[in-house]
Amino acid sequence: MSAETNALMDANAIADAGEPTIPADLPLRNDLIGEEPYGAPQLDVPVCLNVNENPYAPKADVVNSIAERIREAAATVNRYPDREHEELRQAFCTYLKRESDANLQPNQVWGANGSNEIMLQLFMAFGGPGRTALAPAPTYSMYPEYARDTFTQWQTVPRNDDFTVNVGATIDAIKSVGPAMVVLTSPNNPTGTALPMEDLKLILEACQDAAVTGAQPGTHPIVVVDEAYVEFRDPGTPSAVTLVNDYHHLAVSRTMSKAFAFAGSRVGYVAAAPGIIDCLRIVRMPYHLSAITQAAALAAFDHTDEQLAEVDHLRDIRQQTAAWLEQQTYKGQPLRVMPSQSNFLLFGGNLDERELIFEQMLERGVLIRVVGPDGWLRVCMGTDQEMARFREALVESLRAVEQLCGYTAQ
Ligand SMILES: Cc1ncc(COP(=O)(O)O)c(C=O)c1O
Repeated sequence: MSAETNALMDANAIADAGEPTIPADLPLRNDLIGEEPYGAPQLDVPVCLNVNENPYAPKADVVNSIAERIREAAATVNRYPDREHEELRQAFCTYLKRESDANLQPNQVWGANGSNEIMLQLFMAFGGPGRTALAPAPTYSMYPEYARDTFTQWQTVPRNDDFTVNVGATIDAIKSVGPAMVVLTSPNNPTGTALPMEDLKLILEACQDAAVTGAQPGTHPIVVVDEAYVEFRDPGTPSAVTLVNDYHHLAVSRTMSKAFAFAGSRVGYVAAAPGIIDCLRIVRMPYHLSAITQAAALAAFDHTDEQLAEVDHLRDIRQQTAAWLEQQTYKGQPLRVMPSQSNFLLFGGNLDERELIFEQMLERGVLIRVVGPDGWLRVCMGTDQEMARFREALVESLRAVEQLCGYTAQ
């Protein structure tokens, strides 16, 4: 048995051990009965390209700085951390100035344990019973879970065939539904599609006049732009954070998990008008951001250049991989590749047996993601060596599945 197959079997054992076993006599909320924990498989395989991480580990000097800051913080962990995480909020502002030329004050930013927690806080503050969150779909699969957990109605508007936002249909839905929140993801997961600023402005302006069902008269929807992958956009493209001073009902969510190569530390943040930040301060857990997390994030920001060092390279790899994928075929038809401004690519469109292809890839030690509409697969950018392994495994897997389906080249 190969080492890769061994790894796969071990991984399956771990995955099985994580399946929920909920006794029937536990009074789990009725709407949660039958639900399963969300999460991509965490498998111990040689090449992990399934959760859109930065594949480059921190350099030794960054590791040392993080350890040193945490050592200092450890000396006072008998005390609660700074609930308002003021030093870190200043660091978010400094970063957003440098990264997107945004002029923000600490009362316009707010951090949490990953942008997952930022999004949940937004839903807790603005969603709730009788209210709706609206988003163009397909999009990130966690949003409906935040909605479920906060008793918010989740409603989607189909994107165009090329996965761009259908701005007209979205504005019509804003007017007819009266959502409390409009969630726009740019670049979008899993498609990689960016939302042009002009389109964002049209939606922001439509929200300024729209009413909110289930809220006080005179209130208007907030617009949440999730920019988890924005550092991978083409250089020179503006970010929605530059609009925060102009639109007081705009919240732009960011994360250190992706380009910043800091996923394990769980730090996300949001830029918005102070009024929105104050709404989040109502729903946050007291001391939600530990002293250890704050210390680690501050140390990482001291090494911003090093943390972002591979972003240009990953963007190049994305372009090369997209061009390579377009040359590949499945059952005689070329693969489609969606234009991406992120560190991943959605490819295929014609992969009718995508689960089988995924499994063949896994048998070859390469973990990708079955996500998005039928027929598509998603791969995130790894190191050069990992991408070489991906290309080799994909060609072999496509041929293997064609053979399993009885397809023979004409
Ligand atoms: C669009 C999008 N938003 C938010 C997140 C959450 O990231 P984190 O909680 O690590 O900041 C992800 C993670 O994959 C994502 O794809």
